[in-house]
Amino acid sequence: MIAKETLLQQLPQDLDRARLPQHVAVIMDGNGRWAQRQGLPRIIGHRRGVDVLKDILRCCKDWGIGALTAYAFSSENWGRPLEEVNFLMTLFERVLRQELNEMIAENVRIRFLGNLSALPESLQKEINRSMEATRDNRDVRFSVATNYGGRQEIVQACRAIAEQVKNGSIEPEQIDESLFARHLYTSDVGDPDLLIRTSGEMRISNFLLWQVAYSELYVTNTLWPDFDRQEFRSAIGAYQKRNRRFGKL
Ligand code: IPE
Ligand code: IPE
Ligand code: MG
Repeated sequence: MIAKETLLQQLPQDLDRARLPQHVAVIMDGNGRWAQRQGLPRIIGHRRGVDVLKDILRCCKDWGIGALTAYAFSSENWGRPLEEVNFLMTLFERVLRQELNEMIAENVRIRFLGNLSALPESLQKEINRSMEATRDNRDVRFSVATNYGGRQEIVQACRAIAEQVKNGSIEPEQIDESLFARHLYTSDVGDPDLLIRTSGEMRISNFLLWQVAYSELYVTNTLWPDFDRQEFRSAIGAYQKRNRRFGKL
């Protein structure tokens, strides 16, 4: 880890600073397979995955990428064996506690996207503490999707808007894309320019369904615990070669 972190501290010369993605989202997949391939329990892969995420976050700071959104736990992941779910919840809590000072020092603002009320109370406490302690930080806006589901997010936005129509504070005609987007968990970070998925799966798995409408997709076969700055550089290099047309010519 240490060796990896000291590599590529500056923006690689082959990347164009003027055309960096402003917001990168990652589906951090393949932790379990990474561990199992070595005959280790899946949780070892999750633990290693945290180190990778920390390095990619620092990399965003080093290279000047202003927003990172990571998929840590989906609303469907509750369907996993209880020991794995419990391990992950404890891991999130411990990592948050351990990394808070570092995030403050690095000027990172952390936020959590998802239905947080269903998380263990002790984790909710750490989440609130970390969001509060970093709320004014500006260098990297770091969002962690935890108990997140894209469909659930859209449904909760619909409910909130319907309530406002019902109580007369808005008219149905006022509902447009921008009002809708303001009711999503991502209201203050917006849409990702680049969505990376590791471990080769060609699917979205209920992540940021609304927000990825025009994101550039990058899928690598590398498993998340093996993802590093070199891989991140490749993803950004590929992104910079894309022609983003947004439906135009
Ligand atoms: C991603 O890795 C992390 C979480 C979903 C929490 P997985 O745990 O999905 O690893 P694989 O896909 O089974 O290898
Ligand atoms: C997506 O990975 C969720 C996270 C990375 C947290 P999954 O491993 O849960 O997705 P599927 O099951 O392969 O679609
Ligand atoms: Mg997976």
